[in-house]
Amino acid sequence: MTETTLLEVSQLTSGYGKETVLQGVDLHVKQGELVAVIGRNGVGKSTLMRTLVGLMKTRSGKIQFGGTEVSDLPPDRRARAGIGYIPQGREVFPELTIRENLLVGEVANVDGDAPDYERVYRFFPILKERSRQRAGTLSGGQQQQLAIARAMIGNPALMLLDEPSEGIQPSIIKDIARNLRSLNAETGAAVLLVEQNLDLIVSLADRGYVMEKGRIKATLGPKAIRDREQVRKHLTI
Ligand SMILES: Nc1ncnc2c1ncn2[C@@H]1O[C@H](COP(=O)(O)OP(=O)(O)O)[C@@H](O)[C@H]1O
Ligand SMILES: [Mg+2]
Repeated sequence: MTETTLLEVSQLTSGYGKETVLQGVDLHVKQGELVAVIGRNGVGKSTLMRTLVGLMKTRSGKIQFGGTEVSDLPPDRRARAGIGYIPQGREVFPELTIRENLLVGEVANVDGDAPDYERVYRFFPILKERSRQRAGTLSGGQQQQLAIARAMIGNPALMLLDEPSEGIQPSIIKDIARNLRSLNAETGAAVLLVEQNLDLIVSLADRGYVMEKGRIKATLGPKAIRDREQVRKHLTI
């Protein structure tokens, strides 16, 4: 892991209509890091993700990625700059085939940067076996793999994952953690994960932030993030 800062978020605010949800968020992710933002339902985790990828407007504050300010860039520009996004609920296209869903991920590729299908299929062999089937026929866990694979096709330097454990069987959550770890080890892509699943947080993150009412209320170092009781406390308060 290098010490170079990849994502730097300072005093970020955003919201819906008259409601301000993010109240001034500060956080950063270094190159190759696995960082979790934890917090209960409704604290603003998905709003944070949507604002980072540009689906919601930055009202004030700053998002810097790779040393450049991206706060005013549209989502496609941020994707091509290297920000991959795996939304809550996965949002694969159920009527498209698996192969077609992956093709959608190619729009995030920087020009001349070839999408690496070999690598995707090595990580998720089921997607190769079923490449001509409709994505809607996959199980929840397999759709999660497809959503991660679709982001991988864009060769992101940072993957933003919004509650990948949601609606997934506990046994599969371990697989997701293992896949993301080896993906991180092989590609060096950093991961910013928002979660409330204790197992996934503890087994995946290098460190974390605790979110409450649109603000970062605490930080969890490498030791604290592996301490189930500490993490549990922050998820239930
Ligand atoms: N599309 C929306 N329109 C209006 N308010 C929303 C919308 N999505 C979320 N909110 C509100 O924003 C707050 C934070 O929601 P969200 O970011 O989804 O939280 P989390 O992902 O942590 O569960 C909640 O009060 C929620 O009701
Ligand atoms: Mg959410």
